[in-house]
Amino acid sequence: MTAIDEIKARIDIAELLAPYVALRKSGRGLTGRCPFHEDRSPSFVVYPESWSYHCFGCGAHGDGFTFLMKKEGLSFREALARLAERAGVPLEASARERAEAQRRSRLARLIETAAAYYRECLRGELGAAARQYLTERGIRPATSDAFGLGYAPPGWENGLRYLTGLGFSREEVIAAGLAVPRPDGSAYDRFRHRLIVPIRDREGKPIAFGGRALAAEDQPKYLNSPETALFQKGAVLFALDRASRAIQQEDRVVIVEGYFDAISAHQAGYTNVVAQLGTALTERQLRLLTRLTRRIVLAFDADRAGREATLRSLAVAQAAAQEVQPVVDWQGYVRFLGQSTLDLRVLSLPTGKDPDELLRQQPEAWPALVEAAQPLLDYLFAQVLTDLDLNDPVAKTRAADLLLPTIQQIGDPLLRASYLQRLAWALRVEEKTLLARFPAGAARLWARRPGGVPPAPAPADPPPPALPPGRQQERYALAVLLRFPTIDPATVGLAPELFEGPAERALLTALPGDDEALASLRRELATLPLPELDETTAVRALQDVAQKLRDRYHRRRILGGAAAAEAPDQLAPAGDEAGRLLAVWKARQHKGDRL
Ligand code: UTP
Ligand code: MN
Repeated sequence: MTAIDEIKARIDIAELLAPYVALRKSGRGLTGRCPFHEDRSPSFVVYPESWSYHCFGCGAHGDGFTFLMKKEGLSFREALARLAERAGVPLEASARERAEAQRRSRLARLIETAAAYYRECLRGELGAAARQYLTERGIRPATSDAFGLGYAPPGWENGLRYLTGLGFSREEVIAAGLAVPRPDGSAYDRFRHRLIVPIRDREGKPIAFGGRALAAEDQPKYLNSPETALFQKGAVLFALDRASRAIQQEDRVVIVEGYFDAISAHQAGYTNVVAQLGTALTERQLRLLTRLTRRIVLAFDADRAGREATLRSLAVAQAAAQEVQPVVDWQGYVRFLGQSTLDLRVLSLPTGKDPDELLRQQPEAWPALVEAAQPLLDYLFAQVLTDLDLNDPVAKTRAADLLLPTIQQIGDPLLRASYLQRLAWALRVEEKTLLARFPAGAARLWARRPGGVPPAPAPADPPPPALPPGRQQERYALAVLLRFPTIDPATVGLAPELFEGPAERALLTALPGDDEALASLRRELATLPLPELDETTAVRALQDVAQKLRDRYHRRRILGGAAAAEAPDQLAPAGDEAGRLLAVWKARQHKGDRL
């Protein structure tokens, strides 16, 4: 028995989830209101036998580990460690893992020690200039203490001597990134006469440092620790340790560019702010955040550099938006197709200001700016199209090349079509012309999707028109069936009369066939991005869709012939996700007309 099996055997999942969901016995499982979405009726089911849960409302599903990961923002390792402890199951590590762990823990201690040393230097006589610098930047002592700011004194070996004096080897100081080796075997301090900003992991332990020059003529402005065993730039966000609680409480995070932008925000009381570390936002960083919230606001300087950082980050953000939790029911699917998995916005600052300056001069203006942040795609459109000279064909092509790949990444076909329309309109070209560029992007999207359907020859047809939710479910069911040829539609309750789309109905009855007339629909559905499903979850999802389609079928009967044909698709109760997406789409399209 592996440690994981042992944990599953010893911990009752219902007990594990009890602090988060009130559960009642029901059949083989337990049900309750889903803790992952606003659930009015109990759609959350826990299956103690398989140690798993599934929400039929929002599609959240997984086991005790994933539950803790999502609810407590833990990594798998952390969740495993926590449950192993609870179950009293020892987690054995290999000798290599133990050696590595020991090396890392010494490294961590070294950096912790260095942080304390820098802090002392800031307080001492040598730190006068750095303290002066902080005062001039409006950083209060309490803020400086909270962030553990420090000062690295001038001189080549102060830090090195201090740390080796405490028993760390020179190699360890080098491995920690605090000393730089010379060819002759000696080494010198990396940080000299700089203000020290500790970079911390999520628990608040220092893992690296940023060193700010005190004088404008000192270059570079910031000197940072190199990557080490503890520190990978792309996996860390500055101030996340201090921000995560507020991010969860406010259900929103603001990402700024610089250390001091974040420090000033926290000082002003806006503690849901984190900073990038001088690089474009990475997918890892985004994933750290999406465990805490789906609402992300990017706040960048209004200057040129800020703009480019935004554009670079956008590509990553857009790509990460596709990587959502697997979902199985149709509503989840609609959400998956929608752009709503991540609510990404861009905050525009008044020209010439960075967040740090703004927060110092008018801290009270911040909340309104955050509220006014624009949806990412709208922002991107504005950035690219604002100064566009429509008489310059080269500029038009460039604008298309900048925006098309992003448009292609939009999961929701309705939104995608609407933005495409908007781009065509703005560039005064026909949509056809733009669509001719689509195939390459579609292939790229699939290339990133491990285990995904191989790219089919891209359909030359325009993106699907607006479909009512019921029709989307028909298509979803077909897409799943195409992916799982072993599932017989009849056994999951999918009868042809439940399908209203003539082509969809025809395809259902001709699933194993290969007739010409249905080839394009078949291709289109085969390339629809689907959540990750195994056969069991696929069957469950199909049964779920079948139920909804049956409901629609009966509703139509009740309404009666002609009335039914005229009636709007009533499958979606008001306020549901599909209805919302349609409304958003319609509103966007309207706005797009005026672009
Ligand atoms: P900025 O130049 O915008 O820094 O770079 P800032 O924080 O506004 O600097 P201040 O306000 O003048 O002190 C943004 C971030 O890029 C990284 C740092 O993480 C910085 O906070 N950076 C910048 C470097 O790593 N090295 C540099 O030389 C400059
Ligand atoms: Mn700044």
